[in-house]
Amino acid sequence: MSKKNNFDNRPGYIWLDGKFIKWNKAKIHILSHGLHYGSCVFEGARIYNQKIFKLNEHTKRLFLSSKILGFKLPYTEKRINDACNQIIKKQNIKNGYLRPFAWRGSEMMAISAQNTAIHVAIATWEMTTYFDINKKFKGIKLQTSKWMRPPSNTAPTQAKAAGLYMICTLSKHTAEKNGFDDSLMLDSRGYVAESTGANIFYVKKNKLYTPIADCFLNGITRKTVIQIAKRNNIKVIEKRILPKELLKADEIFLTGTAVEITPVSQIDSKKFSVGEVTKKLLSLFSSLVKGN
Ligand SMILES: Cc1ncc(COP(=O)(O)O)c(C=O)c1O
Repeated sequence: MSKKNNFDNRPGYIWLDGKFIKWNKAKIHILSHGLHYGSCVFEGARIYNQKIFKLNEHTKRLFLSSKILGFKLPYTEKRINDACNQIIKKQNIKNGYLRPFAWRGSEMMAISAQNTAIHVAIATWEMTTYFDINKKFKGIKLQTSKWMRPPSNTAPTQAKAAGLYMICTLSKHTAEKNGFDDSLMLDSRGYVAESTGANIFYVKKNKLYTPIADCFLNGITRKTVIQIAKRNNIKVIEKRILPKELLKADEIFLTGTAVEITPVSQIDSKKFSVGEVTKKLLSLFSSLVKGN
C-alpha cells in the first residue's frame, strides 16, 4: 500500500497535549494504556465552509465520554474549542473532518490505571462524503450483523469510547466481505439499534421512526434531524423497532457526522428506494450545514 495517504504521514500539524506538533512526529509510547485497555474516547465533527458544525456539542460529548470512562481532561471546554478552531485554520481546512481524542498514557501497564496522565490530541483533514458519492444518493446496502450492541449495563454505551468500536469493525469487515457497505446492528433484546457508525431512521406513511437511544449513541446528527423534521411538520416517533417492522418501511436512512444523511437501498435481501421524505430532509440538512 502506498505510504502517501497514510494517516501517519501527512503535511502540517496535529494539536497534541497543548502544542502544534508536526503531523508525522505526533507519536505516543507503544505501552500507552489507551492502546492496550481501550481507555480512549474520541469525537468526530465536520467542517463546512471553514467552520466546525456543532463544535460545542462535540466538545461537551468528549468531556462527557471521558467522565464516563473515569478520567478528567486537563483542559477546559473553551481551551479545546479554541484548539479545534486553531488547528482547522492552521491546516487550512475548508470542508473536512475533525478528530479530537483523549486517552490514558503509559505510566501504568495494568488494568488499574489511576495514575496515568491524560493526553489529548486534535487532528483534522479534508473530507467529502463518507460513502462513495453515488451511494450517497442511490443508497447503501446494509447486512444484519451477528454482533449486537451491548446493553447499557455491560458497557459505557453513552460514551463515544474506542472500545465500543471493536464489534463495529468486526461487523463492517464481514458486511464488506459479503458485498455490502455497512452493517445493521441489533441490540441484545433483538431491537434495531444502529449501524456501525451512524444512527438509523425509517419512514412509514410520511412519519419518521427511530429507535430509542438507550444502548447506543444519541447522535448529534440524530438530534439535529429530529429537530429539522419537527420544524417541518414531519412527525417523529422514537420507539423500540423490530427488524421485521424496519423491513416494511417506505424509506430508510442513516444519520451521523461522517455519513450526514445517507439513504439505505437494501437491508439483507430487501430493497428500498430513496423516497421523498429522505430527499426533503437531505435538502434541509444540506441548507442547514451550508449556513453553518
Ligand atoms: C456508533 C455511532 N453511532 C452513532 C453515531 C452518530 O453520532 P453523531 O451524529 O453525533 O456523529 C456515530 C458517530 O459518531 C457512531 O460512531
